[in-house]
Amino acid sequence: MKNSKPSKVRLDKLLGSLGYCVRKEVSALLRDGVITHTLNLPLKSDTKVSHEEILYEGEPLDPPTGIVILMNKPLGLVCSHDEGEGRLVYDLLPARWRLRDPKISTIGRLDKETSGLLLLTDDGALLHRLTSPKHKVPKVYEATLDRPLKGNEGEIFTSGTLMLNGEKSPCLPAKLTIIDETHVTLEITEGRYHQVRRMFAAVGNHVTALHRSSFGELRLEGLKEGEYRLTML
Ligand code: URA
Repeated sequence: MKNSKPSKVRLDKLLGSLGYCVRKEVSALLRDGVITHTLNLPLKSDTKVSHEEILYEGEPLDPPTGIVILMNKPLGLVCSHDEGEGRLVYDLLPARWRLRDPKISTIGRLDKETSGLLLLTDDGALLHRLTSPKHKVPKVYEATLDRPLKGNEGEIFTSGTLMLNGEKSPCLPAKLTIIDETHVTLEITEGRYHQVRRMFAAVGNHVTALHRSSFGELRLEGLKEGEYRLTML
């Protein structure tokens, strides 16, 4: 069982890790009254504090390390840290969160032209666990197809024999649900590169729109495009 007593760390380390400032700026921020104690206790840069005790501009601090964010990713944003690749999903978060250490990263990726449920975390162990091929989390995608279904796609996808171009092993069984002849949902438990688009390409079709509606038990639940909320995993 986890120790429920909040751990104490140096104030400058805490604020630095949350991206508020660099550690050496803390003294000036204390002097200017930007950083205060909830009970007005005296503070110095090296005072050992817990997250809950500190206010920044009179407000509680951003969520502590171990954050998990559920975002409704809009089309056109990329799941990369490289600004050269265009608008980033990280641009939707508070600017300060880009400076956090450990860094916030996406749990797997959605293509630039895929919308929907995206998870982000600064928890390296969680990230590793959920992106490992061993961890088979069901993910549901809503796809719009360029051509009407032929009728055999469901059988091919559940067979566990579908080979994608350039891959050494077949796709694990996936569940196709038909809405109409050009609209489907597909549940997959892997996260191969462009997997849903490539699965439809492998059966002679083309995905024209793709949206992820769930990740394990998690759903968007009314979250609008571009919005996010904190969640637990
Ligand atoms: N499959 C795709 O083709 N693209 C995604 O973004 C996710 C799954």
